[in-house]
Amino acid sequence: MIKFSESSLTKRPKADLLVLPFWKEKKPAPASAFEGLSKEIAPGLSSGDFTGKEGEVVVLYVAGQKEPRVVLLGLGESKMATEETLRRAYGKLTVCCHKNSWTALNIQLPTAPNLNVLRGVTEGILHANYAFNELKGNKKELKPQVRQICWISKMEKCAAQADHWQNAFEGVYLARNLVNGNADDVTPEKLVRVAKDLATRFSKVKVTAFNKARIEKEKMGLLLAVNQGSHLDPAFIIIEYKGDPQSKDHTIVVGKGVTYDTGGLNLKPTGSMETMKSDMSGSAVALGTILSCAKLNLKKNVTAVIPSTENSIDSRSFKPGDVYSGYTGKTVEIGNTDAEGRLILADALAYACKNLKPSRIVDFATLTGAIVIALGEQTTGMMSNNDTLANQLSEAGEATFERVWRLPLFEEYKSQLKSDVADIKNIGGRSAGSITAALFLQEFVDEKVPWAHLDIAGTAFLSKSDRYLPKSATGVGVRLMVQFLENI
Ligand code: BES
Ligand code: ZN
Ligand code: ZN
Repeated sequence: MIKFSESSLTKRPKADLLVLPFWKEKKPAPASAFEGLSKEIAPGLSSGDFTGKEGEVVVLYVAGQKEPRVVLLGLGESKMATEETLRRAYGKLTVCCHKNSWTALNIQLPTAPNLNVLRGVTEGILHANYAFNELKGNKKELKPQVRQICWISKMEKCAAQADHWQNAFEGVYLARNLVNGNADDVTPEKLVRVAKDLATRFSKVKVTAFNKARIEKEKMGLLLAVNQGSHLDPAFIIIEYKGDPQSKDHTIVVGKGVTYDTGGLNLKPTGSMETMKSDMSGSAVALGTILSCAKLNLKKNVTAVIPSTENSIDSRSFKPGDVYSGYTGKTVEIGNTDAEGRLILADALAYACKNLKPSRIVDFATLTGAIVIALGEQTTGMMSNNDTLANQLSEAGEATFERVWRLPLFEEYKSQLKSDVADIKNIGGRSAGSITAALFLQEFVDEKVPWAHLDIAGTAFLSKSDRYLPKSATGVGVRLMVQFLENI
């Protein structure tokens, strides 16, 4: 958590550094930023070492100030600047602070017409100011994070606005922590505990968790099939956030909660399994969204639905070639036990449609390797039965820069899922793998319910850090959902 405050250049508190923003060509942003400091920073500006290009950081040591150092931060071309430019530049600044163990910052806010400057700056810092240290034994080597920021600005209520964005990030951090944690710790039972903890903390949150016996009673046979190879019981979690009790409007977020995906009997090879603790990223988005909504006290009704199990390998494992049926009674031939996400989501989507009166459903899942091939680690794949919902999600994606790209659900692909022995098969061959996975899900969604499927297999867990995003878990989807909910 960062403690935000606000002040003027003359009254600012002591800190580790003062951050001054510049557009390219060393144009100060704003021009009035440096009253009383021009003389001190003039040699730095005329040295030629600093040009003001985006993300450039130059440290000057200046005597007689509230801070021992002044940082010149480049923001690039002013005409080209967007909130994303600011996220990137201040993300870089934050990484620089970590390297140097600077924790208290006085930040002169840039001015830019038509931009939500504070949003971009704050989000860049909050994104980058994350560290997952739980698995480090030697805590002495750990670098401290930014803890205090005083905004220097003429703008009103900077600190309160920054606190708003920080509240939204609580869900992002929860999601990242759950995904980065050991799979042996973040089990279905642990997800239940995290959900129940939210219900204890917030009166508007209620949790229902089905244990294995209840899941059997509900005949969620597809979730149970995937669970057969695991010594850990499955869980089916429903977390309700009622922010607008007067309204019937109700958004459901379904999240894939495979706490480890070995592939099952169709075992994943070395090189494909190592990151599979991240296969519960969808459930982390669902939990994170509820936390952010509660922290922001959002006036919306949102329910998270999480089917959760490990996909392990065992003599009891469900088998390729066998046929299983789930909540709807539709029978499914298992072509590949590694296509397990769509099985557990099928039961969850069907349950949500039948029992929870959704106005719309958005599901998040690390569902296919094919989406990583198509869109890489930068863009989430989206498939939807409803143009309005898809467009709203695209818009939220632009605003948060958690961008989504829509792929079609054309009928013509459906024949790939044909089974000779059952109603449907759980794999559709190599071509259009992400689309056939989504078409499988669609079979379990009431066609009257607007539904969007977001395949986050590429975006949830990064192989290397990117812009302000750390390596590994990103928490992508939480800010997207919060923005979407705020907009509708
Ligand atoms: N969890 C994986 C998908 C995945 C791949 C997530 C890479 C993150 C990174 C999913 O359960 C899976 O294994 N899908 C298979 C489906 C195939 C057998 C039809 C895949 O994509 O290869
Ligand atoms: Zn799998
Ligand atoms: Zn999986």
